[in-house]
Amino acid sequence: MQKVLNLEEFVFHKSENCPAWFCKKYYYGGANFRYHSFQMVLNILFQDHVNPLIVETGCQRHKEDLGAGMSTSIFGEYVNHYGGRLITVDIDAHALEVCRNVTKLFSAQIQYVLSDSVVFLEKMTETPDLLYLDSYDYDLKNVENQRLSQEHCLSEFKAIESRLGVNSIVLLDDSGLPGGGKPKLVKFYMAEHGWICLYDWQQSVWIRRR
Ligand SMILES: C[S@@+](CC[C@H](N)C(=O)[O-])C[C@H]1O[C@@H](n2cnc3c(N)ncnc32)[C@H](O)[C@@H]1O
Repeated sequence: MQKVLNLEEFVFHKSENCPAWFCKKYYYGGANFRYHSFQMVLNILFQDHVNPLIVETGCQRHKEDLGAGMSTSIFGEYVNHYGGRLITVDIDAHALEVCRNVTKLFSAQIQYVLSDSVVFLEKMTETPDLLYLDSYDYDLKNVENQRLSQEHCLSEFKAIESRLGVNSIVLLDDSGLPGGGKPKLVKFYMAEHGWICLYDWQQSVWIRRR
């Protein structure tokens, strides 16, 4: 049976007594530029995916890091509340160690993988319900780095593309940055390969065309 939109849990709420853990702990007031896109994908997951598998590239590397998103905490808390699993992949052992520490409350449902993200995604055999691409840092002052970051993001998607299901959701970070951010190339590719963009701001939300 289809679940109803879980307004209590995720929706934007201005009240001091907002019951939503997500709104309260991470994006109180809805002012943060990732609030609405995280809310959107969590709501789709909640309504349409039982015990989802979430895969993210680029883990949370600082305890308090709303500037970058704190995605591992958010997804970790989601699977802890509602069921499912999270795999977070990072090339930096120190970043993964910090991440393991700050998400230890949810660690029973998180797999921490030390690897280059493209190498890992190529080997993955499972289908992610939600794929979050947020790895190779995008340097606002270095055009060559920007190109490499954009190519890496495209390579990540291509590495897992054949294992994505009809209901898989893809979330891309840093879409609103000057020069197009990490996902500039992958967005063009996805648009040409049967994907629909639902939302495009700091993050970009995509589902498959039916
Ligand atoms: C912007 S941070 C991720 C932020 C995190 N998603 C959040 O919301 O807090 C980018 C991370 O990607 C990692 N990274 C960079 N290149 C990578 C690669 N080729 N494969 C896997 N991880 C990579 C970095 O070590 C860093 O920890």
